[in-house]
Amino acid sequence: MKIILLLSVFVTYTHCKVFGNCELARQLLNFGLPRHQIATWVCITFKESSYNTRAINYSSNCYGLFQISQEYWCSPGGNACNVACSSLLDDNLQDDVNCVRQIYNEFQRIKGNGFLAWETYPACANPNTANSYISNCYL
Ligand SMILES: *[C@@H]1O[C@H](CO)[C@@H](O)[C@H](O)[C@H]1NC(C)=O
Repeated sequence: MKIILLLSVFVTYTHCKVFGNCELARQLLNFGLPRHQIATWVCITFKESSYNTRAINYSSNCYGLFQISQEYWCSPGGNACNVACSSLLDDNLQDDVNCVRQIYNEFQRIKGNGFLAWETYPACANPNTANSYISNCYL
């Protein structure tokens, strides 16, 4: 019994968090992303990480739900967001969202569209496509 309990704690603790699309949409809203951007963000995160907070791409060194790059934004490596890449792998999305807003603002300034920081954005740029990712959600 004790062993089973321990095992289940271990599994719970190490298991990755894969969000549902609506759960994710609500959290992104709550953590401060603008309502009119939520569909696009849900589409982008699906394409970047399949909503899996633990996603790591070892060839691009990108971390978490939004696949934030270690080269510029999280530490070690770059640290423009003042956050550890490892912190971007947990279930708490506040630090991810803070960094995403910073990246977005930087690309908005440089390229005129903040979403262009994400390679997957073109596949989410069509509003109908983006909206289909949250069409079953009450937000
Ligand atoms: C990982 O990053 C590389 C380089 O950007 C990219 O080509 C590849 O599609 C990424 N892999 C996944 C699973 O997203």
